[in-house]
Amino acid sequence: MIKKHHSIGTALVTSALLMAVLSTSHAETKQMYGKKHLKVDDTNLKTAVQMIEEGKHIFRFDTFGDESFWGGQLRLHEAIAGKDNGGVGPGVSPVMALSLGLKVDVDALPKKLRKKIKRGRVDLEDPATTLALLKLNAVIGVKGIFDPLDQLESVGITCALCHSNVDDSFAPGIGHRLDGWASRDLNIGAIIASAPDLTPFATLLGVDQQTVRDVLLSWGPGKFDDGLVLDGRVIKPDGSPAAPLIPPAFGLAGVNLHTWTGWGGVSHWNALIAVLAMGGEGRFFDPRLRDSSKFPVAAAHGFDDIRIEPKMDKVTAKLPALHLYQLSLTAPKPPEDSFDQLAAQRGEKIFNSKAQCYVCHVPPLFTEPGWNIRKPEEIGIDAFQAERSPDSGYRTTPLKGLWTHTKGGFYHDGRFATLSDVIEHYNEFFGLDLEDTEKNDLVEYMKSL
Ligand code: HEC
Ligand code: HEC
Repeated sequence: MIKKHHSIGTALVTSALLMAVLSTSHAETKQMYGKKHLKVDDTNLKTAVQMIEEGKHIFRFDTFGDESFWGGQLRLHEAIAGKDNGGVGPGVSPVMALSLGLKVDVDALPKKLRKKIKRGRVDLEDPATTLALLKLNAVIGVKGIFDPLDQLESVGITCALCHSNVDDSFAPGIGHRLDGWASRDLNIGAIIASAPDLTPFATLLGVDQQTVRDVLLSWGPGKFDDGLVLDGRVIKPDGSPAAPLIPPAFGLAGVNLHTWTGWGGVSHWNALIAVLAMGGEGRFFDPRLRDSSKFPVAAAHGFDDIRIEPKMDKVTAKLPALHLYQLSLTAPKPPEDSFDQLAAQRGEKIFNSKAQCYVCHVPPLFTEPGWNIRKPEEIGIDAFQAERSPDSGYRTTPLKGLWTHTKGGFYHDGRFATLSDVIEHYNEFFGLDLEDTEKNDLVEYMKSL
């Protein structure tokens, strides 16, 4: 019910907005160009709205055929189902799924079921309940594929798994979707480690399955190492895991290079992650991966040029709509009472003067318009993660919506636990001579973005 109202409501608002935009542009364009151009404008706008809707669906539900990897090769579905439901091991109960940081979309739950859960009449310790949730398409980013006898036959993952959160409106971990938010609760390493067969990783990296499992378990919540299958590097020189944090996928419009280390544009990264990290079935080309000193695994396995017959390609045709959808995700504004407004106003002045932050984090993008990459020595940190990418630098992070991902820390690897630690680092490294009150003001400003 709620779901219906919700989507009808959204559709009404969307079309009302569209009408308003159309009629303004109608009047203006008609005056300027006459009727012919008007039609083109209408078509463009309608197409854009359609593509955003389509992109939303892809972002949330499309596996790009990656169930052939997660289910077909790793047999992850068997670990989820458990031996009582035709799988292996104890299975994954909803309680366990939530503790691994998976999220449940309350809008996908029928009203009756919501009532039953509220009254404590649903067994959240039973993996069979997880299977029921998967059938309802309610586990965010995880797509269960069932056979005619309702057995879980395979499982795939979607973009939403790592780049969504929920608002916890129903219960912790259960609520309305928040697309684009970084899932800093998600322990994807532990989830993958639970798969019965890790041979594909072991073969690729030339190690045994236990080693792969240990690496996956070392990541911890909020981190995923997409670079593992490219360079096989697993620990940093200081002995900590190499996996970077999951960043948000909102606030990307106007930002040139993406990922912590600036691999490329949004669509480059979407294709890379869909094909090389998610195991989707699609074409991918990036000659930079032939560099065997930087990307030994990718170079040895021809990941620079993954070919597939056009009719089998489940990725390429989806890139335009997926791109537009991500660009439409604006960084959410922080709740008004979540920071000190006056201090934030003072902090803004310091950001744009004495502290010199604005030189790189150029408002309102908060990254450089242009080639937004800095050398490690420009920000006073080590080069390890930078050197795992083609440009050997760190992309200046766009700072909007910082408040949504304070868990897991800041910078690509979360090395700074708090915003104060970040400011302290800059204060020392740039010799800024900030007073304690100025540092505090800067922190409040960061929280207000
Ligand atoms: C298993 C977790 C996972 C999945 C699934 C995933 N991503 Fe990511 N994503 C990450 C991580 C980790 C990074 C950071 C990579 C880096 O910097 O090396 C990232 C980076 C990104 C970025 C760059 C953000 C920025 O700040 O520039 C975008 C955009 C993005 N992902 C979109 C997607 C889309 C679209 C999909 C689906 C096709 C997807 N991701 C699937 C984990 C994931
Ligand atoms: C020379 C360019 C440069 C300057 C000056 C600079 N930054 Fe940064 N900033 C970066 C880069 C590059 C990163 C990404 C580092 C990483 O991911 O490891 C970053 C990351 C950050 C982050 C972490 C974002 C996240 O999502 O984890 C914050 C917060 C931040 N900067 C705030 C500031 C503030 C406040 C100032 C002024 C005191 C400042 N920066 C000055 C380039 C700069």
